[in-house]
Amino acid sequence: MSIPNVHRLIPKFLRVNGLTANSNELSHNYGTYKIYSINEHGPFSEKIGDFEDENYLYMNEKNLVRHKSLNNESQSYAKRYYSTKEGSKPNKLLHIYGRRCYATKPENVKGKLMHEIQKPIETFDDKVTVVGIGAVGMACAFSILSQGISNNLVLIDMFENKLEGEMMDLQHGSLFLKDPKITASTDYAVSAGSRVCVVTAGVRQKDNESRTDLLQRNADLMKNIIPHLVEYSPNAVLLIVSNPCDVLSYVAWKISGFPMTRIIGSGTNLDTSRFRYMIANRLNIAPASVHAWIIGEHGDTSVAVWSALNVAGVRLRDINPKIGTREDPDRWEDIHKEVVLSAYNVIKKKGYTNWAIGLSVTSMVHSILKNMNSVHAVSTLIKGLHGVKEEVYLSLPCTLGQRGVLGVIQQVLTPTEREALQKSARIMAELIKGVHI
Ligand SMILES: NC(=O)c1ccc[n+]([C@@H]2O[C@H](COP(=O)([O-])OP(=O)(O)OC[C@H]3O[C@@H](n4cnc5c(N)ncnc54)[C@H](O)[C@@H]3O)[C@@H](O)[C@H]2O)c1
Repeated sequence: MSIPNVHRLIPKFLRVNGLTANSNELSHNYGTYKIYSINEHGPFSEKIGDFEDENYLYMNEKNLVRHKSLNNESQSYAKRYYSTKEGSKPNKLLHIYGRRCYATKPENVKGKLMHEIQKPIETFDDKVTVVGIGAVGMACAFSILSQGISNNLVLIDMFENKLEGEMMDLQHGSLFLKDPKITASTDYAVSAGSRVCVVTAGVRQKDNESRTDLLQRNADLMKNIIPHLVEYSPNAVLLIVSNPCDVLSYVAWKISGFPMTRIIGSGTNLDTSRFRYMIANRLNIAPASVHAWIIGEHGDTSVAVWSALNVAGVRLRDINPKIGTREDPDRWEDIHKEVVLSAYNVIKKKGYTNWAIGLSVTSMVHSILKNMNSVHAVSTLIKGLHGVKEEVYLSLPCTLGQRGVLGVIQQVLTPTEREALQKSARIMAELIKGVHI
């Protein structure tokens, strides 16, 4: 067996299985494996044995002291090895590698309690990373975990202590969840292989700071965050929540080099939820049974699609032709105004919004992970749709699945709704022009 091969193989194996056999450790191994030593003569200087299943190898500070169940050939090899090494310094480390082998301490409770046949498999099929663990990031994390949408959650932020605190706090609730794997780090390596990355990192507006300056600071944040996510999760869908989320989704798309289908802005999914809730309240019907959409900007220029609002296929416009207009005596239009002001109103009272956006993000992550093809109002590249000429990200109802946005529902908009969407697009294009990517 050539030493360089072993040298290459072992660290890889060790990384995968987390195996190191130190002095004083018992190695309890399954499968065919080989043992090499590291001593003062250098790494992997000699092979000391080939062992079959269920062999035990004990070491103390000085040397191998006893071994059980070794086949004869291996026993004599090991004895020969140690007798020829008498007088030399003790081995520092013994590395073991092979198909299916790992080490446990005999005296440790876990080793006595359980006869471990194989290492648990770590599956990354539902791995989700949340970048930014502020109010929004943690609401997303909590909602994703408590609904069992992902069992493999990663938190990333800039502050180690806070990360550790949030991670521990969530981990302590594992009993009530589905034994999720929760990791946290400032190092993006932990996010490797994520299926969905949710970006909620953001900086808050400073005193006297213009919206454009704030936008540039948050765009700079994307320049810092997105390349790491791309590097470690090249096949992920990136879900941009940070505000202004339409412009930042565009920026993330440009930076990432990903197809537009895999960069999604959380967009008006939340506005749509607020809209449905408020209409549902008026009608005394559950929000899920009210079919209504807010499209366009996640913000002041959003568009309420009154023409499509229906319950069980009954269009409210057929009952009230003035619905959503200024002439409507029932003033349904006020609901849209309230939707637009919702974030401001909540922030005025509690400082931030988080629970509803956490739930909204979770519903999108669910559709992506489970490849559900369900329709959400999300921010996507809408150039060419509804007469929009600008290359901008804005929300339209989209089907979401494993590879991100699968399609855009072509709503039949009224001329007023179309115009409002086009106006929203022109404003977005102006904002994008001012950003240095
Ligand atoms: N799209 C929506 O519907 C929606 C709704 C609510 C809030 N938001 C937006 O979400 C963002 C977060 O809001 P919040 O209330 O959680 O803010 P917050 O200040 O509580 O948290 C922001 C977090 O981002 C972290 N962060 C900053 N720079 C970072 C970087 N370079 N790398 C990693 N982490 C970094 C901060 O440490 C902080 O933990 C804001 O932009 C907010 O406007 C969007």
